[in-house]
Amino acid sequence: MKLSERLLEIAGLVPRGSCVSDVGTDHALLPIYLVKNGIAQRVIAVEARYGPWMRARENVKKAGLSDFIDVRLGDGFEPLKPGEVDVAIIAGLGGETIWSIMEKSPDIVNSLYAIILQPMKNAHRLRKALFENCFEITEERVVCSKGRYFEIMVVKKGTSCFFSEEDVILGPVLKQKRTPEVLEYIEARLNRLFIKLRELEGQNSEHAKKARESMLREMELLKGVLEE
Ligand SMILES: C[S@@+](CC[C@H](N)C(=O)[O-])C[C@H]1O[C@@H](n2cnc3c(N)ncnc32)[C@H](O)[C@@H]1O
Repeated sequence: MKLSERLLEIAGLVPRGSCVSDVGTDHALLPIYLVKNGIAQRVIAVEARYGPWMRARENVKKAGLSDFIDVRLGDGFEPLKPGEVDVAIIAGLGGETIWSIMEKSPDIVNSLYAIILQPMKNAHRLRKALFENCFEITEERVVCSKGRYFEIMVVKKGTSCFFSEEDVILGPVLKQKRTPEVLEYIEARLNRLFIKLRELEGQNSEHAKKARESMLREMELLKGVLEE
């Protein structure tokens, strides 16, 4: 099975030789790729739903990797004990769900060397929660796949809880990067915000006013980053 560009970019951030947990594994494609390519020594794949859990187990068995990939049924980090893995991946879930998974298991989360996160939406809410709880974002990537942009971040528990508005809106590492992908991503976000603002024209409800204010602020911050 071929890995999507999004999952390939995530795989590229996993330190070689690590023991990894893939939370919300679904089909277990990522764990299979990580072990087959000698990136992870061992993976504990976690899945909350019975159907995908069974399918993940089948896929691992078919790949002949049952000795290296343990597929556990459960919620978030609950099926794990501290020290079993050094890296965790939570990808393909909403930013708020990702944070709620992390928040429920401080013992596991604080024991990890790195956590790779890829929110499908609300990346800014996830970043805010991370900063407020003194997590440090050490690397960020943006990948465009089939016309959609995905943000990927590597985080670890830090000591400083300091952050700026740009850090929340775009990310502390992305805002410094001047790669064509990041610049295109910022342009694409500005275009989308512009279209959304046009759609709000003529609407005067409190909700519309708040949404307009927040979008204008986001545009101002993104333009500021582009102009730096
Ligand atoms: C959209 S899939 C993403 C699959 C894969 N991680 C990826 O990025 O392609 C999300 C999976 O996470 C599982 N999931 C959702 N909440 C979960 C939780 N709290 N613990 C474990 N798995 C969860 C869902 O059942 C689903 O199979």
